[in-house]
Amino acid sequence: MVLDTTKHYPVLLNEIISIITPQHGGTFIDCTFGQGGYTNKILSFKNSQVIGLDRDPKSKKEADKISKEFQNRFIFKNKKFSELQNLKLKNEKIRGIIFDLGFSYTQIKDDTKGLSFNSTGKLNMQMGLNSFSACDVINKLDIFELTKIFKFFGEEKEAKKIAINIIKERKIQEIDTKVLVKLIERVKRKKTFKTHSATKIFQALRIFVNQEISELINGLVSASKVLKKDGVLAVVTFHSLEDKIVKYFFKSLSENKSVSRYLPKINQQKILFRMPEKKPIIPSDKEISENLPSRSAKLRYVFKKEDFYEFETDIHRKFKYLVDIENFGKKL
Ligand SMILES: C[S@@+](CC[C@H](N)C(=O)[O-])C[C@H]1O[C@@H](n2cnc3c(N)ncnc32)[C@H](O)[C@@H]1O
Repeated sequence: MVLDTTKHYPVLLNEIISIITPQHGGTFIDCTFGQGGYTNKILSFKNSQVIGLDRDPKSKKEADKISKEFQNRFIFKNKKFSELQNLKLKNEKIRGIIFDLGFSYTQIKDDTKGLSFNSTGKLNMQMGLNSFSACDVINKLDIFELTKIFKFFGEEKEAKKIAINIIKERKIQEIDTKVLVKLIERVKRKKTFKTHSATKIFQALRIFVNQEISELINGLVSASKVLKKDGVLAVVTFHSLEDKIVKYFFKSLSENKSVSRYLPKINQQKILFRMPEKKPIIPSDKEISENLPSRSAKLRYVFKKEDFYEFETDIHRKFKYLVDIENFGKKL
């Protein structure tokens, strides 16, 4: 069966449900509400409640429908998940927190967001609650900054060459989505048949504009503080940078040691997490054939071992080199 290609389909839904077990009731936080795919399923179990967050104000439309259907069991907040700790959830017994990172199919089809290479008009890429757009990045940052963004957030081999060409081009005209795609295609003459030439640059810009690295780090730390004993934290990632951060965070706090040889060992008596599976869960061939965007998804999860809130983590130090690049955005 091939699904309707105009809708967003939640990825690894059955796997998420079997890990968080909403049939036993309790309150869950869906940090990336999107079109409500996970939330709807959780609420289909009678004794469950959901707090849904999404940075995109357009998610509210779907959230309002769910609020009507499941009165008293669902609330939605148009907030970034890095703000989780400010939600004053102190007395709530949170049984599970889920993150389904990146963007939804609905967002990529929204021409005003400019997340797709086929978008028309001004560069944007803001998912919601942003401080600057891709248009500011492309038209204001220098060669050094653009190169770093493309290299580290997109793993783009031609990062510098593309940055140099952007600086030249913007002296002639304002760079919009179409101009940027053409410029990248011109620089990257060697075509790969699997992916569009602009994929890596678009990924890099989206990560930078939405400050996705610091969002993820702060979101994971906040979620681990909000979660109660035996609660589960589950994260679906879509690219290697995200997966690297989640894997490091879970592993380092499950084993009571720093995973990196270069960072000082953290001397913490209590171990925060239990990690039942070291390897990520990935979609079945069937899911991929029915819903192609699921092909790069990886699901990792941990259980909180005890009510331990003031834990130490070296995640900020470990990924400082990436957050430093995101900080170029402060001058925009
Ligand atoms: C892959 S979609 C989630 C889809 C959802 N699980 C569903 O089934 O409909 C990711 C969503 O996360 C939101 N998002 C991304 N980063 C966020 C952040 N830092 N804080 C809050 N929401 C975020 C996006 O706006 C998008 O709606």
